[in-house]
Amino acid sequence: MRKLLGIGVLALGVAFSGSAFAADGAAIFKAKCAACHGADGQGTAMAPAFKGNAFIKDSKEDAISTVITTGRDGAAKKYKQFAIGMPKQSLAGDDLKAVVAHLKSLAAK
Ligand code: HEC
Repeated sequence: MRKLLGIGVLALGVAFSGSAFAADGAAIFKAKCAACHGADGQGTAMAPAFKGNAFIKDSKEDAISTVITTGRDGAAKKYKQFAIGMPKQSLAGDDLKAVVAHLKSLAAK
């Protein structure tokens, strides 16, 4: 009986350690973007909304990623009503993909 219990615990341990932590787009958004773009992507006095945003809805993931990683300032700015530009973000790989997917889900709302 003791031995069986031991095997059970071992199997459970293997099952849990096998699951890798996936990149969490919502958590990254909350930490790095929400201060300017709003907790639910509703926009603030500093930056545009993602809710219903046509650029996010209609653009390819690559084009959205480029704005995030290179930023948008000066003459490239699209929204003159906001004093600041989009500061470039250091995001890459799965984190970048996850945050772009989160923006797409916010835009669809
Ligand atoms: C310091 C404030 C600030 C932070 C932080 C910030 N942004 Fe921005 N973002 C802006 C501003 C301002 C603009 C509008 C720039 C312009 O006029 O084109 C913008 C524009 C964008 C755009 C283009 C939207 C459009 O309609 O063309 C995307 C995409 C974007 N931000 C994504 C992000 C993501 C993702 C993060 C977090 C990883 C983030 N931003 C963090 C201020 C910010």
